[in-house]
Amino acid sequence: MTTQIRDLDHYKELYRQSVESPEQFWDKEAKTFTWFKAYDEVCTWDFEKPAVKWFLNGKMNITYNCIDRHLADKADQVAILWEPNDPKDEAVRYTYQELHDEVCKCANGLKALGIEKGDRVVFYMPMVAELAIAVLACARIGAVHSVVFAGFSAQALADRVDDAKAKMIICSDFNKRGAKNIAVKEVVDQAMNIGCKSVETVLVHQNTGAEVTWNTEKDKWWHKEINHQSTICAPEEMDAEDMLFILYTSGSTGKPKGVVHTCGGYMVYTCFTFKNVFQYQPGDIYWCTADIGWITGHSYIVYGPLLAGATTLMFEGVPTFPDAGRFWEICEKHKVNQFYTAPTAIRALMACGDDIPNKYDLSSIKVLGSVGEPINEEAWHWYDKKIGKGNAPIVDTWWQTETGGIMITPLPGITDTKPTFASYPMPGIQAVLVNSEGQELKENNVEGLLCIKHPWPSILRTTYGDHERCRQVYFSPFKGMYFTGDGARRDEDGRIRVIGRVDDVINVSGHRMGTAEVENAINEHPQVIESAVVGYPHEIKGQGIYAYVISQGKALDDAFRKEISDVVRREIGPIAKPDKIQFVTGLPKTRSGKIMRRILRKIASNDAANLGDVSTLLNPDVVEELKKSALV
Ligand code: PRX
Repeated sequence: MTTQIRDLDHYKELYRQSVESPEQFWDKEAKTFTWFKAYDEVCTWDFEKPAVKWFLNGKMNITYNCIDRHLADKADQVAILWEPNDPKDEAVRYTYQELHDEVCKCANGLKALGIEKGDRVVFYMPMVAELAIAVLACARIGAVHSVVFAGFSAQALADRVDDAKAKMIICSDFNKRGAKNIAVKEVVDQAMNIGCKSVETVLVHQNTGAEVTWNTEKDKWWHKEINHQSTICAPEEMDAEDMLFILYTSGSTGKPKGVVHTCGGYMVYTCFTFKNVFQYQPGDIYWCTADIGWITGHSYIVYGPLLAGATTLMFEGVPTFPDAGRFWEICEKHKVNQFYTAPTAIRALMACGDDIPNKYDLSSIKVLGSVGEPINEEAWHWYDKKIGKGNAPIVDTWWQTETGGIMITPLPGITDTKPTFASYPMPGIQAVLVNSEGQELKENNVEGLLCIKHPWPSILRTTYGDHERCRQVYFSPFKGMYFTGDGARRDEDGRIRVIGRVDDVINVSGHRMGTAEVENAINEHPQVIESAVVGYPHEIKGQGIYAYVISQGKALDDAFRKEISDVVRREIGPIAKPDKIQFVTGLPKTRSGKIMRRILRKIASNDAANLGDVSTLLNPDVVEELKKSALV
C-alpha cells in the first residue's frame, strides 16, 4: 500500500530519504502498484535535453490500478458519487464493480469505433459521470485523452483538436449549469466547421435529450455505441513512459501548449500525494470541486482518488445554484470528509455572508484544501473559521499542470499551517529559490524564483509536438533545474509562500491565461491596431484582465468594448473576457520597441504613484495620458 505519513518525524524521515536516494524512495512506492512486467530501472534523467523517464520498461495500465486492483475487497464500495446539477435529482453512485463495467463498455465501444492505442481523443463535456468513465476508457485501451474545458470557444477547441490531431471528439448534447442549458454539441459543430479535419467520429452523450443538429457521416450517439457493449475489456499493456494524456495550458507566449503526462510516474505520484495531502482514510467521502477540464480534476477527482481506492464525489453544477449554499448543502448531505476548492470560490461564497454556511452541518469535514492561485489571508481565515470551524487544517496546495501532482503543501495534522503559505515540499520534491542569475538562495527569509532540482515521477515529459518549446520554457532559464514561472518567498522557518507568476501569465479565478493569447484575440477585431493585457488585483477573481487598446476609426465607447469582449469570447471563451478596457493612443515602449508591462501593471493596479523612472522610454509622454484615463 502507498505509504501514509503518520507524523512530523515520519515526514522528516521520508523527506530525507527521498532527497538522499530518490530512486530507492520511489521504487518502494511504485512497488505497491500492479505491474504486468516489472520495470528494470527507476529513473533516468537529463534536464538539458530534457529527457526524463521513470520506471523504465515497466508494463502496466493505470485503470487496472484504479479499478480492477480494488475489486477483490472494494467491489461494492462507491468509487464515484455523482451529484447532479439540480438538487431535486438523485445522486448516482458507481461502485468499483459498476465503474469497472461502465469503463469496459465504453472502452469496447471506442475500439469498435476504430480507436486504437496512441490515438488522441478530445473531450468537450460537462461534469457528467460519463466524462470520468470515458477518460478511463481511453486509458484502458491506451488512447491518449485530451480534455478541453467545456467553457472554451469553438475556435479554442478546434485549435486544441488540430494540435493533437485527434481522431475523435467526445461531447454531450447540452451542459446543465444552474438554471441554464448550454449547447455543447453546437460548439463542437462549429469547431468541426473551423478545423478538426483529423476527426473521424464525434461521440455524443445524451445529457438533456434536447434536439441537436446531426451530421450523419461523423456523429454517433453514446447510448447506441456503448450501452450494448461487453463489460469485459482487458486493459492494454502500456509502457510506463507511454503517453497517458495531453492537457493544454497557457504560457507567456503563443498558443496554449499541450502538456504531456505519461502512465507510470503519474500513477505513482498522484496516488502518493492524494493519500497524504488529504490524509484519506477508508470510508471517507472526498470532494474536489474542480472541473475535469483542468489538471486538478484529472489528478484529484479521477486518478489520485481512484488509485487510492477512495470514494470521489463529482459535482455537475455550480456553487450558486439553486443558491449560494449549494457546496455546503452537498457537504452536509454526503457527509464530505475532505473538501478541496479554489480561493476564487471561497471568496465568492464568503461575499454571500456567514448565514449561508451556518445553516448547514459541516462537522464531517476533516481537511480543507485550496488550489489554483494564492489564497489571501481574509479568505484563509474565513475558510478556517466558518467552514472548518477551526478543526479542519487547510492544505494550501501549490502545483501546476506541468507538475501533474501537488508539490508544496501542508500535511493535515502533521505539519503546521500558516495563512497564505503552501509551506513544505512533498517528499521527493527539491524546491529551491534562485535569483535572476540562477544562483540558489539557501538562506531563509528570502524571495526568489521557484525552481525544482530533481525530477519527480509526474513531471511533464514534453509539450506535444514541440519538444523545443518545453526545453526553452521550463529547462533553459536555469541550468539543471525545472523553472516553475512562479515567484516565492521562504519565511524564517523554511515555509514557502508562492506569490504568483513572474512571467506574462495571469491567473483569473484560478484559470491560467497568457496575456499574449488575450491580446491576439483582441487584435482580431478589425478596428484594433494594438493591445496590451495585464492582470490587476481583483477582489473575487484574484486577478482581473485589464486591456489597453489602440484603435482606429471607431467611437471609443461601451458598444466598442462589447464588440472587443465578443471577439475574445469567440476566440477563447467567456473566461478570457477583459474586465476593463482602456482606450489609449499609445503604449509605453522601450527604445527597442518592447512594451513596458511593468508600467501598465502599476497603472492598472492603481499604483501609478510608484512608476519609477520612465524617462528612458521611447514615448514617456504616453504615461501621463494612460494615468489620466485609467479605469481605477
Ligand atoms: O502561479 C501558480 C498558481 O497556478 C499556477 C498553475 O496553474 P495551473 O497549471 O492551471 O494549475 C492550477 C492547479 C494546480 C502556478 O504556477 N497556483 C497554483 N496553486 C497555487 C498557486 N499559487 C499560489 N498558491 C497555490 N496554492
